[in-house]
Amino acid sequence: MRTIIRAEHLVKNYGEFAAVKDISFEIREGECFGFLGPNGAGKTTTVRMIHCVSPITSGTILVNGLPADVDNRKIKAATGVIPQEMTLDTDLTVFENMMVFSKFFDIPRREARKRTDELIAFVELEAKRDNKISELSTGMKRRLLVARALLNKPALIIADEPTTGLDPQARHLIWQRLRLLKNQGTTLILTTQYMEEAQQLCDRLVVMYEGKILKEGSPRQLIDDEIGREVVEIRIEAAEDARLIADLGPLARGHERAGDTLFFYCRDGRAIQKKLVEMDLPNTVYRPATLEDVFLKLTGRSLVE
Ligand SMILES: Nc1ncnc2c1ncn2[C@@H]1O[C@H](COP(=O)(O)OP(=O)(O)OP(=O)(O)O)[C@@H](O)[C@H]1O
Ligand SMILES: [Mg+2]
Repeated sequence: MRTIIRAEHLVKNYGEFAAVKDISFEIREGECFGFLGPNGAGKTTTVRMIHCVSPITSGTILVNGLPADVDNRKIKAATGVIPQEMTLDTDLTVFENMMVFSKFFDIPRREARKRTDELIAFVELEAKRDNKISELSTGMKRRLLVARALLNKPALIIADEPTTGLDPQARHLIWQRLRLLKNQGTTLILTTQYMEEAQQLCDRLVVMYEGKILKEGSPRQLIDDEIGREVVEIRIEAAEDARLIADLGPLARGHERAGDTLFFYCRDGRAIQKKLVEMDLPNTVYRPATLEDVFLKLTGRSLVE
């Protein structure tokens, strides 16, 4: 597959503070590429440099062969952005917000009206077409941001935490729409702190932390490489660790203590499961490994601030 975005040695400093610290990555045409990371990891800063609203401190980004920070107009014309912040005009209606935005792309009025009506339907906001933004719920606003990002028929869509703060229905609707766009050939860049979202949508992703990329791969590959197939969680006093590690350690590929829980990471969980039955431990959970385990293993299982 063709590389559509290539970032090399990308750095972003705000004064003395380094928000993005020399990262490199490649995004292929037609894939969904994720930036997964906790608050302050540098996700928004990175994608803002891709869509040319934040100057690059050093390094380069090529978008479709065009250098970001140089060919800004062309890059913006071919990119749709679902921003993290609610950048809607609250005094205007849903329809008016779309029409105002269409002017940035010089879309003729008649065409803009047609696309607006289609896109309002696409995100199921017909009933709110003539309501002001202040009358919409958070989920509705987010859906409108999705519709707005599509006005210029972009080949690349950047979705910056598109489902933060939404209920499950609204979240699934946005996932479905993003998947539909991807199936139509659109390249997607997604930032998220939700592991399930990354697992559902991303073909490949990077785990970002404190301005750096810690790991890169497909969700499955990251889980297999870092954790294995299954995880055993035993809620037990740390005083018992040595005994349990002696018993279960040889059957696991790694273990970790975090708070009240001892974790074992397994590649083939059957042997360990059998052992657990023999040991008859209370408060034990045996479950498939997830991206969340990868994330917590890489970034530490403690609260990040
Ligand atoms: N305009 C700015 N001026 C100074 N520092 C900034 C600015 N924008 C972001 N930062 C800092 O850069 C770091 C990365 O911020 P960024 O918004 O990229 O994080 P993020 O990964 O998107 O986090 P979140 O999940 O909270 O959206 C943070 O420490 C933030 O405080
Ligand atoms: Mg952000």
